[in-house]
Amino acid sequence: MLLEVNNIHVSYGDIQAVCGVSFHIEKGELISIIGANGAGKSTILNAVMGIFPPQQGKIIFKGQDITNIFSHQRARIGIRMVPERARVFPRLTVYENLLTGLYGLRNKLPVEERISSMYSVFPILEERKNQLANTLSGGEQQQLSIARALVSNPEVLLVDEVSMGLMPKLVDQVFGILEQLNKEQGLTILLVEQNAVASLAVSSRGYVLETGTCALQGSAQELMDNSRVKEVYLGH
Ligand SMILES: Nc1ncnc2c1ncn2[C@@H]1O[C@H](COP(=O)(O)OP(=O)(O)OP(=O)(O)O)[C@@H](O)[C@H]1O
Ligand SMILES: [Mg+2]
Repeated sequence: MLLEVNNIHVSYGDIQAVCGVSFHIEKGELISIIGANGAGKSTILNAVMGIFPPQQGKIIFKGQDITNIFSHQRARIGIRMVPERARVFPRLTVYENLLTGLYGLRNKLPVEERISSMYSVFPILEERKNQLANTLSGGEQQQLSIARALVSNPEVLLVDEVSMGLMPKLVDQVFGILEQLNKEQGLTILLVEQNAVASLAVSSRGYVLETGTCALQGSAQELMDNSRVKEVYLGH
């Protein structure tokens, strides 16, 4: 197992945001956690990334307990996150943003090769490479945010609601790129999404999160066929 999250609890003061959630990802899988606003999706990713560690429970990566290590150490061992709402450095160029994704790894990785491989996945970024990130469109910023996480060649990519704010065509395009990276390069991906239709379509399995607990899990097909999922997320 590549990543195992075991019974984590996260509270912000009196607010219990995540209450005993467990899930796992095998190497090479693409899976989804779906849930509505406030279900605890970002809280889970922030716990896995070490931005806000859980008060209880364990996070195991490649057999190592990482529950209490720093976020930058997790990044260095191959865990990367595309944060909610495409956080890029607004006053840096596209190229400079990509360089920040290689922070601490520049001696270990072929920098220009990694950056040009991102340009081949996201051609628009090459066209815009000298442009300041705050002048990119929302969709372009999402692509830059994904590329910044991917440039270090991580083992697992955590993606927080990449579909948010994108028009349907762009959602399909971005999910298509992630699916291709998974199929062709074996990249392990965890999508966290409200957009159940688009995310389950590219996933093999999924978990449904409801107010901080895992209400359901199963294959993507089982979830799409589930009457509760249909009612809440698929609108029928
Ligand atoms: N820093 C914080 N301080 C206090 N409460 C917080 C904090 N961050 C999140 N919460 C609360 O924790 C709960 C889960 O929030 P979280 O951001 O994980 O949800 P989410 O599933 O990512 O929602 P969304 O789809 O809207 O992004 C919410 O009730 C939220 O108000
Ligand atoms: Mg969120």
